[in-house]
Amino acid sequence: MTHPTNLIGKTALVQGGSRGIGAAIVKRLVEQGAAVAFTFVSSEAKARELQDSITAAGGKALAIQADSANAEDIRDAVAETVKTFGGLDILVNNAGVLAIAPLDEFTLEDFDRTLAINVRSVFIASQEAARHMKEGGRIINIGSTNADRMPFAGGGVYAMSKSALVGLTKGLARDLGPRGITVNNVQPGPVDTDMNPADGEFAETLMGLMAIPRYGKSEEIAAMVAYLAGPEAGYVTGASLTIDGGFGA
Ligand SMILES: NC(=O)c1ccc[n+]([C@@H]2O[C@H](COP(=O)([O-])OP(=O)(O)OC[C@H]3O[C@@H](n4cnc5c(N)ncnc54)[C@H](OP(=O)(O)O)[C@@H]3O)[C@@H](O)[C@H]2O)c1
Repeated sequence: MTHPTNLIGKTALVQGGSRGIGAAIVKRLVEQGAAVAFTFVSSEAKARELQDSITAAGGKALAIQADSANAEDIRDAVAETVKTFGGLDILVNNAGVLAIAPLDEFTLEDFDRTLAINVRSVFIASQEAARHMKEGGRIINIGSTNADRMPFAGGGVYAMSKSALVGLTKGLARDLGPRGITVNNVQPGPVDTDMNPADGEFAETLMGLMAIPRYGKSEEIAAMVAYLAGPEAGYVTGASLTIDGGFGA
């Protein structure tokens, strides 16, 4: 399928772009013409492979090792993106972790790590990126349908982290709206990735909860992100847009 090339001349940074939904977002933004930097923390080989495949095909990509739990790493990643590509128009905050455990066993380390990566990194990257963005800038967060519905025990902290993004998105939209920069939150349902494999232990139960009983594809999430990143979405801001096969219906 060919996509519109409406992001030619734009530059993007995707936090957590080496695998899964993030990698699909990187590829989609490149296909639409953007120069795309993306971070990873541990999957160096996958990140390099993605960068190399994009550059070999004539696109512009830059893999940056940066831990989203570390404020300096995030700020450095923004600076490197701006230095390499000459600006920053689109920020996608995709890096996320999922910790599930019975209440009695849920550790404070997992609590703090979940908030640091799923929430605090979104604030830090948005604050830093906004300093470089011009009118037409885009910030897109990857939340979860679990912000609205958490049908299992043990997922409270993850659900809380994604609910936090709903409010953060609204507040940042107010901060940046007067400058013509939009801020939105994409809330996927079950998507087949390392985090939530379609043949994993939760799959059957999850599919029983959906109106469309299948896992989503990373590319389907990337398509919604691409719409929000594009020029036609200039009047969408502060919104949480759910794409979950009817998980929350
Ligand atoms: N899959 C689902 O069903 C689903 C549903 C709703 C929402 N989501 C959300 O969608 C986003 C992507 O999920 P996914 O399923 O694609 O997950 P995934 O397959 O586990 O991939 C996670 C990505 O985030 C990066 N990342 C994780 N921790 C990081 C850190 N500390 N610093 C920098 N990068 C980090 C990973 O980098 P490395 O490769 O270096 O580890 C990887 O690129 C997450 O925010 C997740 O909560 C997923």
